[in-house]
Amino acid sequence: MFHIGRPVFVVAAFGTLFAATVMSAAAADTAALERGKYIFDASGCANCHTDRAKKGPLLGGGAAIKTPFGTFYGPNISPHPERGIGKWSEAQFIRAMRKGVSPGGRHYYPAFPYASFTLMTDGDLKDLKAYIFSLPPIDRQSPKQELGFPYNIRAGVWLWKTLYLEEGPYKSKADKSAEWNRGAYLVEALTHCGECHTPRTALGGMKRSLWLAGNAQGPDNERIPNITPDSGTGIGKWSLEEIIDSLETGTLPDGDEFGSLMADVVTHGTAKLTAADRRAIAVYLKALPAIQRSLPKPTK
Ligand code: HEC
Ligand code: HEC
Repeated sequence: MFHIGRPVFVVAAFGTLFAATVMSAAAADTAALERGKYIFDASGCANCHTDRAKKGPLLGGGAAIKTPFGTFYGPNISPHPERGIGKWSEAQFIRAMRKGVSPGGRHYYPAFPYASFTLMTDGDLKDLKAYIFSLPPIDRQSPKQELGFPYNIRAGVWLWKTLYLEEGPYKSKADKSAEWNRGAYLVEALTHCGECHTPRTALGGMKRSLWLAGNAQGPDNERIPNITPDSGTGIGKWSLEEIIDSLETGTLPDGDEFGSLMADVVTHGTAKLTAADRRAIAVYLKALPAIQRSLPKPTK
């Protein structure tokens, strides 16, 4: 009897092992997609790559973003093979995010905030790509950028990068707490607060010495406030809890609501983070050097 039972047992055991392997691979995929969606929301990819005002399809191309350097459009980055990025390898995706270079070697304009995304870890970039590639491909032509001279010369972006691109990934600061480092990673790499809240040089680089100290001419010519902990010109009077709350609910300590671009940052971004991550952002903001700086008058 044994010589019959044994192969059956082996087959059954192998079958169980095989099923378990397939199942854990599927579970790993689901977990990667969930992590990817979290990165995607935190980083606001859809804010620029989806034309929400016109109810455009997810990642099928964004609305105009007006800046002092020209009008930019976030292209179609859905996984469509021709119109989107569906043919990109993982390495090409990581290179675009970390170095601002297309698979064909074109330099991207820094209106694509890769000066921040460069700090993402490889693991987060891989999960992000997996999530984007799980979304529906969109058959829609990307709009053309409308730039004035000299910003219409892509080679100029190379120069810009030598001046302003500090390539990542983010490196933890050993003298800071884990919570501070998580906050720094969220603010500097993912949620890219600095791209709007930090003033820029004439060439469009973020002025690191005035990190988060307000930007008189942000995207869409918005005046973007100083969010360093200066009590007169920044948000120094906000308590830690008030900062956390505003990033969850969009309501400011004085009862006002965030408007314009900041409303999108909260609704589609920070409101979807874990409570621990919102706290880490607030801890990081509270620990910034307080910079006393009122916004200068707009130049245009
Ligand atoms: C502030 C607006 C903005 C945000 C936020 C943004 N992008 Fe973009 N992105 C752009 C613009 C503008 C371009 C076009 C740059 C150019 O043409 O040089 C671009 C280009 C790209 C490209 C190159 C597409 C191609 O066809 O070559 C990729 C990939 C990309 N973005 C991915 C992302 C991902 C992923 C996120 C979220 C982590 C994201 N972007 C967030 C504005 C944005
Ligand atoms: C796309 C541009 C953009 C990004 C990215 C952005 N903000 Fe803002 N933020 C704004 C604008 C515009 C306002 C002014 C909103 C208003 O007038 O209601 C603002 C206002 C604020 C305020 C209110 C300050 C005050 O004195 O009233 C806080 C706090 C703030 N942002 C924090 C953040 C944090 C933290 C991040 C990153 C998680 C961030 N912002 C990312 C555009 C942005």
